[in-house]
Amino acid sequence: MITFKLNGQDVSVDVDGDTPLLWVIRDELGLTGTKFGCGIGMCGACTVHVGGRATRSCATPASYVSGAEVVTIEGLDPKGAHPLQTAWSELNVPQCGYCQSGQIMQAAALLKDIPDPTDDDIDAVMTGNLCRCMTYIRIRDAVRKAAATMKGAKNG
Ligand code: FES
Ligand code: FES
Repeated sequence: MITFKLNGQDVSVDVDGDTPLLWVIRDELGLTGTKFGCGIGMCGACTVHVGGRATRSCATPASYVSGAEVVTIEGLDPKGAHPLQTAWSELNVPQCGYCQSGQIMQAAALLKDIPDPTDDDIDAVMTGNLCRCMTYIRIRDAVRKAAATMKGAKNG
């Protein structure tokens, strides 16, 4: 039995410790916002936060998150209105949408570390999150927009 916190709730799952966290989240716990892309840690579609860090859930064994705090796209904001989600919507970032929850989770970790990122900062951190629909320019714009919103909120 592996116990951890998922989006603020304690959860326990009866899985082999080697089971990828991605399958625990999707199949055992029914949260399907986190996507399977490559399965080998190379595309970012499965990105979640573990202990506040952006983590590829496809390449993370369930045993690794025992006792840890995991956040998925469903838990990023209680109303789905994180400044990144709002910016994504306002700038019509997604095309097919498949990669986008991973993109947003990666971007959320970026803004925690670098609240006012330059384009180079954004490119450096987001480079491992692939988008077959080539939405990269809109992603960068949306990250900048969300950063400005968060900065404005902080400054009152
Ligand atoms: S599915 Fe995890 S990095 Fe591609
Ligand atoms: S929006 Fe289609 S893969 Fe990114």
